[in-house]
Amino acid sequence: MLDDKKIIVALDKPGMQQALSICDQLSPDLCRVKVGHELFTSTGPGVVAELQKRGFEVFLDLKYHDIPNTVANACSMAADLGVWMLNVHASGGLKMMESARKAIGDPGAQAPLLIAVTVLTSMEQSDLPATGVSRTVDEQVLALAALTNEAGLDGVVCSAREAAMLSSEFPSMIKVTPGIRLASDDANDQKRVTTPEQAVSNGASYLVIGRSITGAVDPLKTLQTIASGLTS
Ligand code: C5P
Repeated sequence: MLDDKKIIVALDKPGMQQALSICDQLSPDLCRVKVGHELFTSTGPGVVAELQKRGFEVFLDLKYHDIPNTVANACSMAADLGVWMLNVHASGGLKMMESARKAIGDPGAQAPLLIAVTVLTSMEQSDLPATGVSRTVDEQVLALAALTNEAGLDGVVCSAREAAMLSSEFPSMIKVTPGIRLASDDANDQKRVTTPEQAVSNGASYLVIGRSITGAVDPLKTLQTIASGLTS
């Protein structure tokens, strides 16, 4: 599934002003924005309203992972903010994801898109055993995507490296892929990285891009360059 606004800019900033000053350099016609732990913890839900006022659709990336009742209530509160997309951790299990789905309602006109994180893109094969996972990254991503599908969620967060595999197994699921880096960028803490073009050709539905855009000298120009590379 691909719409013409494939880029989600991660606003990983420590406060409202820093986040809005990046947004004021972007265009809601070219991207959506993502509010994660850092920004949400510092500003609270007010930032979502400010971004919506500026015309941006918001992905609330709080990766809920708790008992089903708590996650269901948190998802319901998030949906009340009018966000476009929100997420949970698939490793929270089937019951947790089913409760989240039930809390925000079936996919459709009013409910936000609900997706689940498989394996964080900052993790690589050698990180898994210490977390109790003996599978390969691909096997773990596939298993958690199957669980997500069974729970009736709309899609997953995965690395673009796994998007092709998931596209053939679960063609109708949304694949949201962080870990995107321009060929000239530093990977920083990300491990399973891919360029924007490669991610789309692997079947990614939406690309989460943070530092490559927010740290650029000219964020709008970088966004425009990436967006035009994806449609040409
Ligand atoms: O700056 P960068 O492009 O690495 O930002 C990636 C963003 O995507 C961060 O906000 C991070 O929290 C988020 N993310 C991720 N891996 C996941 C899920 C979300 O990197 N599996």
